[in-house]
Amino acid sequence: MSTTTEPVPRQTSDPDRTFPVRRISFASVIEGLDQDVAADDDVLMAHLVAALSGLFPDGEEIFIEAVRHHRDQISDPDLLRQVNAFIGQEVTHGREHRLLNERLAELGYRSKLVEATLANDAAITPAMRRILKVITRFGPLSDLRDRIEEADSLEPEPIMALALTAALEHYTATMAETLLREPELQRRFADEGFFRMWAWHAIEECEHKAVAFDVYKAVGGDEEMRRRAMRLATLALAFIAGYHTVVGALGDRRSYRNFNLVRSVWRLRSNPLLSKEFRTRLADYNRPDFHPLQHDTTELEDTWRGWIEGDGVRPSAA
Ligand SMILES: [Fe+2]
Ligand SMILES: [Fe+2]
Repeated sequence: MSTTTEPVPRQTSDPDRTFPVRRISFASVIEGLDQDVAADDDVLMAHLVAALSGLFPDGEEIFIEAVRHHRDQISDPDLLRQVNAFIGQEVTHGREHRLLNERLAELGYRSKLVEATLANDAAITPAMRRILKVITRFGPLSDLRDRIEEADSLEPEPIMALALTAALEHYTATMAETLLREPELQRRFADEGFFRMWAWHAIEECEHKAVAFDVYKAVGGDEEMRRRAMRLATLALAFIAGYHTVVGALGDRRSYRNFNLVRSVWRLRSNPLLSKEFRTRLADYNRPDFHPLQHDTTELEDTWRGWIEGDGVRPSAA
């Protein structure tokens, strides 16, 4: 009599994909940081960087929770291994960005206020809520209005939280790829050590970009919800990052010296994060056959890995 073992169903899109949880710290870079985090007094860029950093720690905790919630439905050992590495990387990102947010707040940035936005802090949400009430009067946003009235109802179901995580991971991966590919964006960082921190985060976002997506598919997440989550993620990200970037820049004295704010607005035209190519890569997510690994970044990750891990020179002439 022979015994047959059932093969474990494949849930990962790439069983060979491995990525490490790096033991790395940017504490000394963060400690030595001065107010000019962006080159050429680009105040909008500086406040955008602070707003994004403010979003990371709590945002990444939400991602971890959303993925961890579904971990017991993962039977594929390769996807489980990737989930664990994803969690390890995001925990490290959260830790480093929390430290960075404290330093940026000391330097006058809104990074801690942004953290508080995600934690639903009463001291700042009323102003944002008033603006949301105005912009949700119109068009496609009008159905959000009632839900914003009661913040509690914004808490998504676990599967929707996972769909939002997959969508926001597509955002972080697309921003990461753009940062590593575009010298025009790299040049906008004033400090090399500070840029290295963002390049490190970018590599890891590229490395683990398929994990939340694969988990969403493995637990039966559907296409309609996947695309709806992308629309919501876009709204939330554009609103929170945009609001804090603009309010931060308007409240910054440097904006009113040497036409810095005007020059910064002018420079938006050539910012790769606002380019058509960037928007096209983002919109790919709405294709029915989309998968994050279709945007192949393995070569790009290899190019930057040496410098990040401390045994290479900085790539490109950027
Ligand atoms: Fe991250
Ligand atoms: Fe991530």
